[in-house]
Amino acid sequence: KKGKYDHFMQKEIHEQPDSLTTTMRGRLTRGRESKMKTVVLGGLKDHLRTIRRSRRIIFIGCGTSYNAALAARPIIEELSGVPVTMELASDLVDRQGPIYREDTAVFVSQSGETADTLQALEYAKSNGALCVGITNTVGSAIARGTHCGVHINAGCEIGVASTKAYTSQIAVMTMVALALGDDSISCRVRREAIIDDLFDLPSKVKEVLKLDTEMKELAKLLMEEQSLLIFGRGYNYATALEGALKVKEVALMHSEGILAGEMKHGPLALVDETLPIIVIATCDATFSKQQSVIQQLQARKGRLIVMCTKGDALSSCSSGACRFIEVPPVQDCLQPIINIIPLQLLAYHLTVLRGYNVDQPRNLAKSVTTQ
Ligand code: UD1
Ligand code: F6R
Repeated sequence: KKGKYDHFMQKEIHEQPDSLTTTMRGRLTRGRESKMKTVVLGGLKDHLRTIRRSRRIIFIGCGTSYNAALAARPIIEELSGVPVTMELASDLVDRQGPIYREDTAVFVSQSGETADTLQALEYAKSNGALCVGITNTVGSAIARGTHCGVHINAGCEIGVASTKAYTSQIAVMTMVALALGDDSISCRVRREAIIDDLFDLPSKVKEVLKLDTEMKELAKLLMEEQSLLIFGRGYNYATALEGALKVKEVALMHSEGILAGEMKHGPLALVDETLPIIVIATCDATFSKQQSVIQQLQARKGRLIVMCTKGDALSSCSSGACRFIEVPPVQDCLQPIINIIPLQLLAYHLTVLRGYNVDQPRNLAKSVTTQ
């Protein structure tokens, strides 16, 4: 079943142009005239009005699914105008945090069987919130237990480390944002630009997958390290968290995703000439802030690897003393889908080089059905 690949994780990383195509199939249409660009999510269309009118949207999930929701949060807020809050399922349950009838609770889960997320679902339901599922598994407990939802249709994911489900979750939540913003004239140009880039996404993902050899070289350079920091902000705060999660769970290397805006509030103390740091600085509204983060890290002799937009290497890091990962540009809200791919490849190659089990990392299970 692995075909030409050595591991399921590797197969699933390289499958992403196809899994994203299936995720979007039948849901996006683009006619010859621009006004014909539409998004139809069969499972949500009767509930959009209720969601738009809700007092807030609460995203609830664990691990990678939480990170996917974090990546989609800004575009949901921008296009729907509804405040979005984030909850790790176990923390919501521990706190018994307030949830009201006027809330929309969105449960994100690849397996649809995660115990913490299911418990949070029961809790939100008993509080009267509209419960929406974003799941990969038809017939799963979360798909059945939610009032409505969207299947991500990424295909079966076997590697314990979630890869293709992550990118499909972000694509689906971006489509949810588009559907929620459907009645607004003011964001029409923005919506259409995003729809155009969703159509182009599979080819852009193919392009970024060509970094495979480069990421293997980078993995050779980093394989003996104890630790790896990843700095991101804005849309790519989630990329930093998810990249670090991949590195720690499969390559068994300590890694931390850090919000770049928090750098001076603690993490800067760790920076020296030995610790490798990946800085995500692709082109978006936060680019100039990331440039200044890079300058400050360089001033402390940080060992930098800068992820930047293709052709932008010099403007993102003018002194030239760093390595680069150059990725193709897409609309800012879709950039996390592109940017995670080199980090998935890096985590994969680090794991193989360090001699660990790729598809079944130590101590982890694919579906966490106990608490
Ligand atoms: C549905 C069909 C798909 C068909 C398409 C044709 C299913 C599973 N999907 O896809 O095979 O090609 O119509 O129009 O039969 N739901 C939840 N919670 C979740 C996920 C989904 O309640 O977590 C509900 C949805 O509200 C919806 C149903 O499950 O009622 C199917 O969802 P989805 O597969 O996303 O709908 P379509 O894309 O319309
Ligand atoms: C990491 C990973 C886990 C899961 C988490 C939630 O690669 O796979 O962090 O994302 O256990 O699982 P689901 O999405 O099935 O609820």
